[in-house]
Amino acid sequence: MWLYSNGGGDKIAKKIIKKLADRDIETINDVRLHDSISQNGHIIYDDIKLDKLDLFFSYNAGEQTQYQTYLYQALNRLIPMINSYDAFALSEDKFHTSLVLRSKGVATADYKLCHRDDGAALKKIIKKWDKMIYKPTDGWGGLGLTKIENEASLDMLMPFLNQMDIRYFYVEKFIKYDNTDFRVDIVNGEFVACYGRRASRDDWRTNITSGGSVFMREANDEIINIAKKATKACGLDIAGVDIIYDLEKEEYVVLEVNGIPAFATPEQEKMGLDFNDKKIELIVDLIDKKTKKKGK
Ligand SMILES: Nc1ncnc2c1ncn2[C@@H]1O[C@H](COP(=O)(O)OP(=O)(O)O)[C@@H](O)[C@H]1O
Ligand SMILES: [Mg+2]
Repeated sequence: MWLYSNGGGDKIAKKIIKKLADRDIETINDVRLHDSISQNGHIIYDDIKLDKLDLFFSYNAGEQTQYQTYLYQALNRLIPMINSYDAFALSEDKFHTSLVLRSKGVATADYKLCHRDDGAALKKIIKKWDKMIYKPTDGWGGLGLTKIENEASLDMLMPFLNQMDIRYFYVEKFIKYDNTDFRVDIVNGEFVACYGRRASRDDWRTNITSGGSVFMREANDEIINIAKKATKACGLDIAGVDIIYDLEKEEYVVLEVNGIPAFATPEQEKMGLDFNDKKIELIVDLIDKKTKKKGK
């Protein structure tokens, strides 16, 4: 497995390995695809042929590299991975996620994708939507999100966007909400936990990196069902689904499906977020199930 080590991740890894050992499942920890090579039909890390493993558990958002994700895709052609590469790649792309969620009947923000030459499409849509958000399709932490308040600010932004080396524009209708969200963790189709995040006073983004903060918040059945449906639609074994309440449409909307949702940090655990053990147990069950299937 490969799991992030900051924010208490190292301790989580130890617990997972211990619980797997109790089930006679041997784990090789900190297997780094970034430092692996491939030759002669094998992918090799530290003299280990990774293609001989029963399963690879990849859970490290912070240390991803292009080479590592390239080998993630390659390795998943040979052995099972959690999450599967396809589901992981889907969750990393905001447009693909919206497309799939909407096609499977999960409410999301209205979105539009168009070619970079088709600025006219954006002009049309801002007239209809009033406010929208430009999003890099592969962004995270609220970075690069740009709120476009009116036609004039779109006109100002266009030359900058055109200077950038992008093929397409992905925009979402700006949803009126109370600047809080629900983060719902799902593992193996089961509800793990829910907490909330609140944007800081001078931001509309709930991301911690944008100044947002975590608070204790319970989910209701509707929210849990939406999160399960979104997770299934994306084909994810493990997911953190971000949900907000659209004040105009009066419905819950899925904003994002994260394929590597963090465990509660030691500080968050002190706040009362106590879902780590449950999540570990469900992940161990999942690994157990998937490795058994392969072995027999
Ligand atoms: N369509 C939207 N309407 C209103 N707020 C949004 C919308 N999309 C995103 N946000 C706000 O911006 C934050 C970051 O957006 P998100 O799509 O999750 O990108 P990231 O991957 O950077 O977290 C969200 O948590 C939410 O607070
Ligand atoms: Mg987000």
